[in-house]
Amino acid sequence: MSAWKKHEIFEKNSIVLVIGILVAISIGGLVEIAPLFYLKSTIEKTEGMRPYTPLELAGRDIYIREGCYLCHSQMIRPMRDELERYGHFSLAAESMYDHPHQWGSKRTGPDLARVGGKYSDDWHVEHLVNPRSLVPASIMPGYPFLAENELSTRDIKNHLSANAIVGVPYTDEQVDNAATDLIGQASPDTDAAYEFEERYPGALIRDFDGNPSKVTEMDAMVAYLQVLGTMVDFSIYDDKANLR
Ligand code: HEC
Repeated sequence: MSAWKKHEIFEKNSIVLVIGILVAISIGGLVEIAPLFYLKSTIEKTEGMRPYTPLELAGRDIYIREGCYLCHSQMIRPMRDELERYGHFSLAAESMYDHPHQWGSKRTGPDLARVGGKYSDDWHVEHLVNPRSLVPASIMPGYPFLAENELSTRDIKNHLSANAIVGVPYTDEQVDNAATDLIGQASPDTDAAYEFEERYPGALIRDFDGNPSKVTEMDAMVAYLQVLGTMVDFSIYDDKANLR
């Protein structure tokens, strides 16, 4: 029986053919997927990446709650028009602490992956309260209630420990003090702010919403927007030729 004759068995019997296909696919799958479980890290480590502070994490939650991702992506693709407009393309490591990531594919508004530092805090507050006061043709909805809603500290500790379970390297101390740090980051010159600074060196400490009387959801949202895309230092790529 020649090899071709044996192949006839597959061609004439659909069950055998299906089993044959499954065997072929699982060999391919094993070869591609199995090594990922044995590599030390499937994402290249990148200097500067750190877990979100409690305030940034709370802002990220509000971003998801309000559905900002329905109009905004957070993934700059490596194509010339995107690089010219938004900056260096997104690295996998930049969303390694995002659970779940906010890459998105819908861009009714611009990509926000590198919006951190592009505008002042005041700009963001005013834009979120009433987008048309700054961008007359904007179709973005306003979120004025963010500036009024006091930020809840109730869930933040659990939120950090849930992130720790899926691999975000929060220390026990950071988890235990999540609620104090949440308030500390938005209350400059207080004891809580100094404590926060020790636990998260280099993170911004500001009254993000410009209202010192309380810590609001606006503080969290602006803290989150201002950190987007700022953790990794891309100044070494300033020469645009390197981007292409
Ligand atoms: C209905 C779609 C829509 C939703 C929902 C939406 N946006 Fe926007 N956004 C836009 C559009 C369109 C623009 C561009 C015009 C402007 O700047 O207002 C924009 C602009 C922005 C900008 C300025 C970006 C830049 O680089 O100039 C930021 C920051 C922003 N949005 C944040 C948010 C946040 C935070 C939320 C959720 C609370 C949100 N957006 C929800 C449509 C949306």
